[in-house]
Amino acid sequence: MLRRFGLRGVARIIRDRAVASGVRLQLWAHPLRTHPALGMAVFIDALLAATPRPEFEEVRRIHAWCHSRDRRPVEGRGGSTRIADCNFLYLLVRWLRPRMIFEVGTLIGTSASVMAQALIENGDGGIVYTVDGSYTGFEPIEGQPIRRFTGQLSSVALETIRNEGGRIDLVFVDGAIGRRDIELLNEVKPRTSVIALHDYKLPAAKGVRNAWRLARELDFVERSFWVLPERQGLGYEPIEGLLINSSVAVLLPEDWARALTTAQRRDPRLRAQPPSSKRGG
Ligand SMILES: C[S@@+](CC[C@H](N)C(=O)[O-])C[C@H]1O[C@@H](n2cnc3c(N)ncnc32)[C@H](O)[C@@H]1O
Repeated sequence: MLRRFGLRGVARIIRDRAVASGVRLQLWAHPLRTHPALGMAVFIDALLAATPRPEFEEVRRIHAWCHSRDRRPVEGRGGSTRIADCNFLYLLVRWLRPRMIFEVGTLIGTSASVMAQALIENGDGGIVYTVDGSYTGFEPIEGQPIRRFTGQLSSVALETIRNEGGRIDLVFVDGAIGRRDIELLNEVKPRTSVIALHDYKLPAAKGVRNAWRLARELDFVERSFWVLPERQGLGYEPIEGLLINSSVAVLLPEDWARALTTAQRRDPRLRAQPPSSKRGG
């Protein structure tokens, strides 16, 4: 092993395995709080039912456009949000109708551009705030409502949003968040308290680590349910040939999750409406 991976490689493998075992143990001791009737497949069906004429072709086009503008050396590319997860984010934004989205991890802007497209289709005048601490090469598609915080950490961007009195409706985390980010989220008090995490892949990909951190430190997590991707890395295919969500986990306010499942039992056409009383001003 030493000959194959070198000393540093072996040290990294040992560290990763230790982190994975730690997270596995912690999740076993304190599992994330989920709703028994609201798995990811049910949630996706609900989002689809609530979205008239979803433009998945447009999502595909934007996804390809962002990749075509990737300025990194060819051999170092990767790490951008895949099409199945972009399809899911698009549907989530169409359903939630947020005014302000906060994204951690811009990179080449695929997820930010897809979410901005969904905002445009919603027609409510929403905006995506996106932050990246290292990659600075992303230029938004002309006319898309995106504000970039380039070369900054998420905690610095969150401080700016707090100081400007911004109210976030949807947080999408595709980076690593720490204690300071969570303190600031507790202070900013997102209006709808919906948080989506990319790379929720067991045992310990970054989405799992972020979920675990939020579960310990976020004020409103006790009043929320997690909707977790059971088919991690595979995605769902509710319509033939259309893959949706391979690794995005979502934290939903408790009463929304209950309303989704109750309304679904009563009337399938109502099942995906976010409870309007919780939308805020
Ligand atoms: C997986 S990539 C994001 C991919 C992007 N969402 C896309 O669709 O192209 C993660 C990026 O997040 C950035 N990042 C990670 N943690 C961060 C943090 N706490 N603050 C700012 N940027 C962060 C990294 O620099 C990296 O470029």
